[in-house]
Parts: sequence; C-alpha cells; structure tokens
Amino acid sequence: MVEGKKAPYLRLGVNIDHVATIRNARGGKFPDPIRAAQLAVEAGADGITAHLREDRRHISDEDIDRLAAGVGGKPLNLEMAATEEMLAIALRHKPHAVCLVPERREERTTEGGLDAAGGHNHLAPIVRQLVAARIRVSLFIEAQPMQFQAAKSLGAQVVEIHTGAYCDAHGHEDYAARDRVLERIKAGAKQATDLGLEVHAGHGLTFDTVVPIAAIAQIVELNIGHFLVGEAIFVGLDAAIRRMRHLMDEGRQAIS
Ligand code: PXP
Repeated sequence: MVEGKKAPYLRLGVNIDHVATIRNARGGKFPDPIRAAQLAVEAGADGITAHLREDRRHISDEDIDRLAAGVGGKPLNLEMAATEEMLAIALRHKPHAVCLVPERREERTTEGGLDAAGGHNHLAPIVRQLVAARIRVSLFIEAQPMQFQAAKSLGAQVVEIHTGAYCDAHGHEDYAARDRVLERIKAGAKQATDLGLEVHAGHGLTFDTVVPIAAIAQIVELNIGHFLVGEAIFVGLDAAIRRMRHLMDEGRQAIS
C-alpha cells in the first residue's frame, strides 16, 4: 500500500450454502436460504454467495432462480465448477459474478484451489464465455505465483485466495505453519494486485482467523459461510454477521 493511501473498503459476501444443507437434511422448505440472504443483507452483507454443486447437496436450482436477480439490491456471487452444465446455468441467469471452484463429488467441501495453470485449456473457453456475457469471473486458487499468472492469462478479473490451509493451521494450533501460509497469502495478494487482478479471499474463516486476513490491504472481499451459519445457531445470524463485520473493520483499521 502506498503510504498515506487508505486501504479500500473490505466487502463481506455471506455464503448461505449451509442454510440449504440444514433444509435438505429433512427435505421441504425450512430453513429458507433466501430468507437467510435477506437477513444477511440487513445485517450488513455486501453480497450473497452460493455454490451450486453438481450433486445439489445444498443449494438447488430453484434457490439460484430466486437469488439470481440479487437480494436487497446486493449482488449474487455464484460459485460453480467449470463444467458445461454450470456454464449454461450461469449464462442463463447472468449473476453479477461467478467464482470457478474445483469440485470433486467425494469431498465434503471445496478442498484446495483450482489448478488454473494445469487446467488452462479446459478453463479458457469457459472464462471467455462468462466474460463475454459481462459476468465478473473469479478463480478460487491457492496463493501460488504460477496460479496468479495463469488467472491473468486466462482473462479472469478476480482471484479468490483459498484461506483453508491458514485456518486449518490455526485450528491445529500450529502457529508457525499458520504464519508461513499468511505470508504466502500476503505475497500472493500483492502479486495479484500488481497483475491488475482484484483480490478476494475465503474458506474456513472464523472470528479467530479473520482479522489478519482483513488486514491485508489488497484484499477487497471476503466470502464467509460455514462458520457464520454455525454461529447463528447460538447467537442468531444477525449478531454473527455484525460481529464478523466488526472484526473485519478492526483488521482494516490496523492498516489505515
Ligand atoms: N469461497 C469459496 C470459493 C468457497 O468455495 C467457499 C466454500 O463454499 C467459501 C468461500 C466459504 O467458505 P466457508 O463456508 O468455509 O466460510
């Protein structure tokens, strides 16, 4: 960051997938993820994120139909695998943004980032069609120099840095490993910004891990879901989101 220059506002995208997970545990309509999205916006979310998985284990096609136009004037960030089926859905709905993520059926959640470098030939036509439809394209990648280079050469406008390894190390109280990953994320955020990419981050973030990530000036958006939905069981969604927002602001203030 240039001395004297204020870090940009840090947006919060609330991921509502796991409201749908609870709904789907019983079938039926409750709890409704769109109601959660509305509450999230009222609590200060700057956008709503939803991952339509190939196996539809949480968010459904109908949820996307209802979310596509945005909620409370806030944009939808559609997370999806780079497949022809998902591309067709995205082109039909034209959400504000699409975040391309790796997806394996047997995984419990999105493990690891997209191999933008190795998957260049597969990803290129998908990114091109999304960009041509005026959808902002983000690639969910690990903080590795060659992945940022690949994202740039693919024509994505945004990268989302995977914070899973950082959060896992924190959870295992391996603070040396956590700090090493944090340094990699910081260097990656700088490299991406220098390449002209917008930088987001997410996965596994909690009240305990968000502040150092929010203090990285080049990151302009965090996408957070699982922890917020879990915390909502104890304190309510509104209070959970407001506390996360407060901690993000605290991280940001440390660098302003
Ligand atoms: N960003 C991306 C690209 C993701 O795939 C996910 C998980 O769906 C998240 C952010 C949010 O992660 P979490 O639910 O662990 O907060």
